[in-house]
This record gives sequence, structure tokens and C-alpha cells, in this order.
Amino acid sequence: MNRTIVLTGDRPTGKMHLGHYVGSLKNRFEMQDEFQCFFMIADYQALTTHQNRAGDLAAHVQEMVLDYLAAGFDPQKSACFLQSQVPQLAELTVIFSNLVTLPRLLRNPTVKEEMEKMGLEKRTTYGFVGYPVSQAADILLFRPQYVPVGPDQRPHIELAREVAARFNRTYGDVFPIPHGVYGALLKGTDGQSKMGKSYGNAIDLSDSEASVRAKVMNMVTDPRRVRATDPGNPDVCSAFHYRTVFDEARADQVARTCRKGAVGCTTCKAALADVLNDFMTPFRNRRKAFEKQPDLVRDILNLGSAKARIEGQRTLEKVKEAMGMGYKFLMG
Ligand code: TRP
Ligand code: SF4
Repeated sequence: MNRTIVLTGDRPTGKMHLGHYVGSLKNRFEMQDEFQCFFMIADYQALTTHQNRAGDLAAHVQEMVLDYLAAGFDPQKSACFLQSQVPQLAELTVIFSNLVTLPRLLRNPTVKEEMEKMGLEKRTTYGFVGYPVSQAADILLFRPQYVPVGPDQRPHIELAREVAARFNRTYGDVFPIPHGVYGALLKGTDGQSKMGKSYGNAIDLSDSEASVRAKVMNMVTDPRRVRATDPGNPDVCSAFHYRTVFDEARADQVARTCRKGAVGCTTCKAALADVLNDFMTPFRNRRKAFEKQPDLVRDILNLGSAKARIEGQRTLEKVKEAMGMGYKFLMG
């Protein structure tokens, strides 16, 4: 077995959508045959934005494992674990917190954008500005080669690489420098630059066929088109964006027909709904099969977390050893 490790994760704050799939799930699940993969459900990181809704996490975690399974996670090959069940992550976070300056954290564009969105610039928590340090620990505890993530995570991967290099320079070589593997950015159904669960513009992996169809039929098309025979401009149509991602082979032809005014938007969108529903049929079938196994989610998380703790303990021992904090004298 190839010992190259892949690590990635998600905050359990709600249902996963096609944006997650295109950005990261697709890449990570394709890596399962070749590499040893760890998928983390980052419940502690979810607290940095959802501290008042900690009680909802249990349901979100279970939902997330089912979303993973539906999208292609294979529990025979890979491990899925819960961040809060692996205490070594918190320990490594404490160590790393002394290797990153506050100005460096405050420059992080993803953190800045999230702070703005939540209107929290003036009263942001220590945990929130610091979450990329904790994410560096999430990543480096597993000493992975690859970290498949959405493009918005790039600043966090860069920080993890810096922390790894700084640790190695300060204390000795422990961490390989990880590489981000970036998926595509999917626009929202409203044409906004990003599909996001908080924007109300997402197609969820668990959406029914009828719900996908309704969301597609609501998409904004070229606003200057009044009649089906008016020439259209696919470049300003959010439905067309989905063709380029999910119907690549036919996208050029759709664009040509649109520009000629040879197809109406209703017909065009109905065809797109079929494309998306066909694409999602395997997700639905897998979800249905896995939902019938009541203990599956529990077993996956218990087994995965045990495996993650073993891997984590190994790294933590190397870390403390390199730092001169192995404390052999305590052992008699
Ligand atoms: N920040 C990631 C997100 O919002 C979640 C995450 C937590 C993560 N820890 C990670 C991603 C480690 C990759 C590696 O989706
Ligand atoms: Fe968009 Fe299709 Fe309408 Fe053109 S015909 S504007 S691609 S929905």
C-alpha cells in the first residue's frame, strides 16, 4: 500500500452542495484508490462561527457522513473522523500557536472576508482569527502530501506550509510540506460568484429530482432575452455556467443555439435539469443504500477516529522529541 497520505475536512454546519462536490469532494474521493485518505469533520472549527449552536452539531455530523457516502466516500478504503475525538489536534494547535504572529493571521483574506460577511470585524473571537492555526494542526498532524480543498482554502494551506517550514527550521525536520489540490469554483444558482449554504443559492447533494428541477427553472438567464427567438448571450446566464461544468461535451453547442435564438430558455433549462439529475442519480442511489444501515455512521466515525488518534499520537511524539520535550526523565 502506498503510504502517501491525503487529509482534508469540512465544517459540519449544514448540508453539502454541488459547490463542495466540484471544489473538493470529487478530487478527494478519486484519490482513495491510490492514497491513504483521512477525511475530518471539523466540529471544533464549526464552533468558531456557530458557538451558540453547538447542540446542532450532532445532527450535522451524521448528515455530513451520509453526504460523504453519497458522493463517493468508501469506508473500506478511507478513514472519516471527528475532530473533537482526536485530542492530539488540540495539543498540536497549542504548540503551533507560538509559531504564527497575530499580524500574519489578520492578513488572511479568507478570514477577512468571513469576518466582513458576519459583521464581526470589531468583536471577533480569539478562536475565530486563530482557526487557520488550528487548521494547520488538522493538516500537519497527519503529515499529508496532498490536501484537496476548494479554492477559498488556499490562504489556509499556505499558512500550514509556512508553519511546517517554521517548525522544521526551529526544532528539526518533522513535517513534509503539504500541497493543496484545488477544485473548481461553482457559482450559485442566483449567478453569485460562489455557491454557499448561507447564501440560499445552493443545490444540495441530498436535493430531490423535483427540487433540483425547481432550482434550475428559477435560475437567472440572459435578462435581455424576451422571446425564445431573441439571440441570447450565454456568458451572462447562470444556467449556462452549469453547462460548462456538468455538460462540458455539449456546452459549445448549447452556446451556439442560444446565440442564434434557436432555443427558448425554458427548454434549455429543462435540459440542464435533466443533466444535473442524471449526474446526481448515483448519489441518490448510494444514499438510499447507506441509509438502510443504522449503525454505519457511528461505526465509521469510531473506527476512523481511533485510526486518527494512532496516527496523531505518532506525530505528536516526534514533535515533542524534536522540541526536546520528550521528557525521558519522567520515565524512571
Ligand atoms: N476550513 C475548512 C472549510 O471551511 C474545513 C477544514 C477544517 C479543513 N480543517 C481542515 C479543510 C483541514 C482541509 C484541511 O471547509
Ligand atoms: Fe441561458 Fe440557455 Fe437561455 Fe441561453 S438559452 S440564456 S444558455 S438558458
